[in-house]
Parts: sequence; structure tokens; C-alpha cells
Amino acid sequence: MKILVTGGCGFVGTNICLYLNSKGHKINSLDNLSRKGSKYNLNILKKKQIKNYNIEISNYKKFNSLPKFDLIIDCCAEAAVEISKSMFDKVINTNLIGTINILKKAKKDNSKILFLSSSRIYPINLINKIVNKKILNKSLKIKNTIDENFSIMGPKTIYGTTKLSSEMFIEEFSYAFKIKFIINRCGVISGPLQFGKQDQGFVSLWIWRHITKKKLNYIGYGGYGNQVRDVLHIKDLCELINLQIKNFNKINNQIFTVGGSKKSNTSLKNLTKLCEKITGNKISFGKITKTSIYDIPYFITSNNLVIKTYRWKPKRSILEVVTDTFLWLKNNKSTIYKYF
Ligand SMILES: NC(=O)c1ccc[n+]([C@@H]2O[C@H](COP(=O)([O-])OP(=O)(O)OC[C@H]3O[C@@H](n4cnc5c(N)ncnc54)[C@H](O)[C@@H]3O)[C@@H](O)[C@H]2O)c1
Repeated sequence: MKILVTGGCGFVGTNICLYLNSKGHKINSLDNLSRKGSKYNLNILKKKQIKNYNIEISNYKKFNSLPKFDLIIDCCAEAAVEISKSMFDKVINTNLIGTINILKKAKKDNSKILFLSSSRIYPINLINKIVNKKILNKSLKIKNTIDENFSIMGPKTIYGTTKLSSEMFIEEFSYAFKIKFIINRCGVISGPLQFGKQDQGFVSLWIWRHITKKKLNYIGYGGYGNQVRDVLHIKDLCELINLQIKNFNKINNQIFTVGGSKKSNTSLKNLTKLCEKITGNKISFGKITKTSIYDIPYFITSNNLVIKTYRWKPKRSILEVVTDTFLWLKNNKSTIYKYF
């Protein structure tokens, strides 16, 4: 299949390009290389003869000049949640206008769309209600999970709003113009090719700070470090996407919640213990008690629908996520210093 991966030089995009290329698909990437580290990933793609179109996704004229693809996998986003509060023009242009441009081209070319959405489309207030904030000075029990039927009504971050709006446009275009789609609402994803920087996900940041022996803070909810997230290994996600592509003609126009689930999750405090064990280093921690308006105390995905539909479930535990990310960061330490 001829596939375009937008954001193909990002963390998720590069991993998907490489995985699908290894499965015999003809892969092209689109990326304007705005993300630090994306130039490093571009070199990895070049070694596999994967071409990148260095194009701004919100520029429809340029995007429309690209050849026709059977499938477009949309991994192009300004993905930092906190940044979305201040850089909303960039966030809206990349995340929403970018997806609309993909839809216009998909309509013209009759391409399918696989969209990387986010668990941040769910409202902050409702997620907050899952956990009694008063008990956040204790370790949380992993019990409630969130699935596709959880309410979407309420503020969810500007980032999350652009992702949900994109989902809604995809459904509208599918209804009106018969575009076939799959939407994966992913929780936290981690693994190799994540550079360990502040806005790239907390797991790789935690590991990188332990490797480089730099201080970290527990931020929000009293600064106890008891916030919990599930974490999906990037390889598990690539395996799912490969299955979804294989079955696209039979299974389409569906939305799935996809995450590490009860199989792979951690609190910040537990992640510190794992990092200490794996890196052999201990670092000091500060405590910032104030909670960001965008933080949530807990998120564990229910994979029930995606398991039932594809007989897929995440194979890798949080220990494997941390170990694989650690090994990649350790082996690429000098490169990371060069690019950041
Ligand atoms: N990483 C996660 O934990 C996670 C979780 C859920 C969903 N997602 C989704 O997965 C996708 C990929 O996330 P990621 O972590 O790989 O992010 P990333 O920042 O590593 O990759 C995004 C890529 O898009 C490129 N890009 C940004 N703006 C662009 C523009 N205007 N035009 C062209 N290219 C542009 C960047 O250069 C970068 O290489 C996003 O859609 C994100 O919403 C990620």
C-alpha cells in the first residue's frame, strides 16, 4: 500500500514509518522538521529510502501538490498540552487545519485516513471526578478505566479540543464523501526515538533526567507524585496499526480508545523507583504543590473494544517501556546533546 505519514519525522511518525516500511508498504513522510530532533529522525528515514516532503501541513496549495496515496496516517501535531494554552494559532493551524487539508486531499484522491487522536479529548472535570483529590497523598488504586463512551462534554485543553474537532471533521467528511477512517484515541505513548525533553512525555523525561543526574519536580496535586497514567509501548501501537491497515476494507469508520491499560501504567513515584533501578542513579526531587488547570490525576484506558475488534492487546509492561526507552536514550546520548 502507498502510505503517507504526516508528522513522519516525529516520535510516533518515525516509528510508524520504519515499522510499516519493514512490512513492505511504500512509505512517504510529510514533516516540516519544526520539532527539535526531527532532523535526526529524517536521517534514519533516509537510510531506509523513505522520502520526506518538507511541507507545512496548513499550506493546502503545497500539500495538494503531493501525489496520490492509498492511506494517510495523520501523526502531525503540536502535541504539547501545556504549550497549547499560549501558542494556539500554531496548535489550531497544525492540528485542526492540517487535518482538514488531509481530508480535502483524501476526498479528491479517495484515500483512507488513520488518525492519531488523544485521550485528552475527554473533559478534565469529569476525569477529576474519578479520583477523590483528598486521597492523592496516597498511592491510587488502579480500577476505573475510560473507554470510547466516556463523555466528551467540557473543557479538555486547547490541544484536546483541536484533536476532538479533527475527529468530528473526519466523521463529517466520511458521512458526506464516503472517506474510510479509523481513529485511535491514544493515552501516553513512549519508547525509542523519544528524546526525553519536557514537552515530549513524562516517561522519557524521567529516564533522561536519571541518566544525566538532573533534578526533577513532582508538580501538582500536592506534589506527592501520585498521579497515574497508563503508558503504551510504541511497538505495541505499531503492531496495532499494521493490523488495522490489513483489515481496513472490512473494519473502518470506528473510534477506539488505545492505551497501556491495566497492563502498563505507573504513578510518578513508581516511575522514579523504576528509573533508579534501571539507571542505577538517584536524583533529587522538588515539590510544586500547585496543580496546572490542565493536569489530570489519573488516566487508565479501557482497550475492550480494540481487543474485541482486532484481537490485539498491549504486550509490553511499563518495565519494558522504561527499559527500551532507557537503552535507546543511553545509546544515543551524544546525538541528543547535539540536537537539543
Ligand atoms: N506522544 C504521545 O504520548 C501521544 C499520545 C496521544 C496522541 N499522540 C498523537 O500522536 C501524534 C504524534 O505525536 P508525537 O509524540 O510523535 O509528536 P512529535 O512532536 O514528536 O511529532 C510531530 C511531528 O510533526 C511535525 N510538525 C509539527 N507541526 C507541523 C506542521 N505545521 N507542518 C508539518 N509538520 C509539522 C514535527 O516536526 C514533528 O516531527 C500527534 O498527533 C499526537 O497528538 C501522541
